[in-house]
Amino acid sequence: MTKQLIDTFGRIHDNLRVSVTDRCNIRCFYCMPETDVKFQPREQLLTFEEIERFVSIAARLGVRKVRVTGGEPLLRKNLSTLIRKLAAIEGIEDLALTTNGVLLAQQAAELYDAGLRRINVHLDTLDRERFRQITRRDDFDRVMEGIETCRRLGYGPIKINVVAVKNLIEPDIVPLARFGRERDIEIRYIEFMPLDAQGLWERGRVLLADDMIAMLEREIGALEEIPDRDPRAPASEYRFVDGIGRVGFIASVSRPFCLNCNRLRITADGQLRYCLFAVEETDIRALIRRQASDEEIAEAVAGSVRAKWLGHEINTARFVAPPRPMYSIGG
Ligand code: 5AD
Ligand code: SF4
Repeated sequence: MTKQLIDTFGRIHDNLRVSVTDRCNIRCFYCMPETDVKFQPREQLLTFEEIERFVSIAARLGVRKVRVTGGEPLLRKNLSTLIRKLAAIEGIEDLALTTNGVLLAQQAAELYDAGLRRINVHLDTLDRERFRQITRRDDFDRVMEGIETCRRLGYGPIKINVVAVKNLIEPDIVPLARFGRERDIEIRYIEFMPLDAQGLWERGRVLLADDMIAMLEREIGALEEIPDRDPRAPASEYRFVDGIGRVGFIASVSRPFCLNCNRLRITADGQLRYCLFAVEETDIRALIRRQASDEEIAEAVAGSVRAKWLGHEINTARFVAPPRPMYSIGG
């Protein structure tokens, strides 16, 4: 079995994002339609045993970091059972979870016991009414309580993901950074990407990293880039010069980081994708369910990596939005 997943551009793939469900309990407009969401039937989802097997094979191919995502992963029943299995896989050095936080207060302790330490909570605003507008649900208080619970339990690092939509999120940029500074939580601003289910994305609706940096420096204080960070991490990370707090920017549109990409994704229904924006997928579920050997599955993974393109072309006229929206791919 090969020891590393290297694509034709020399990029080593050691980072896997595993979606465990496409369902969600809120309806962020930049991801989901408001009504009539079509979810996958349950029998199409990989079982925990199937996910565990796939991640073990990936670990033997050099995958070291795993992030569990959705949809909203905490909607998957007994998620902590899966976390425990993944944490025990040899070779997996880093296990993290991305959640919208709504069910976090209830589940954080159980997940911590299962071995989870790193958590990203998706929260765009500290204003309850704006939260309701963006997510079309009134769950702001539950999310805040979830974040507090994680802090109390000793999770770390805790990060907050903010989707940066222009003409909308500007009033939240600075308050969120202050909130993070007070709690040692890194705020990560993610430029709005063309992955929403309703086709609302336009270049003019992306709030760019440079504009957010200018706002933060004007209102809070000077920022400096963090030296010696992992060059393959997608976020451009900064700290406040006064030594209090840090912020990150996932600037897929204004600072594409495809050249350093080390990520693969598997959807809840077992489709392997070499890019968030990939148009083609490799059907791992079909292989698993027709009793393929570990070697065959490993070969399929290696094949997907070999087929990987250089990167998305959001910035060109050739760009084609992928056939699945964010909730169905896994962020
Ligand atoms: N553009 C950028 N980020 C998005 N997310 C969801 N939809 C979009 C989009 N259209 C983010 C959410 C979540 C992460 C998994 O993906 O903030 O935290
Ligand atoms: Fe749910 Fe996340 Fe999509 Fe929001 S962005 S609707 S929390 S899956």
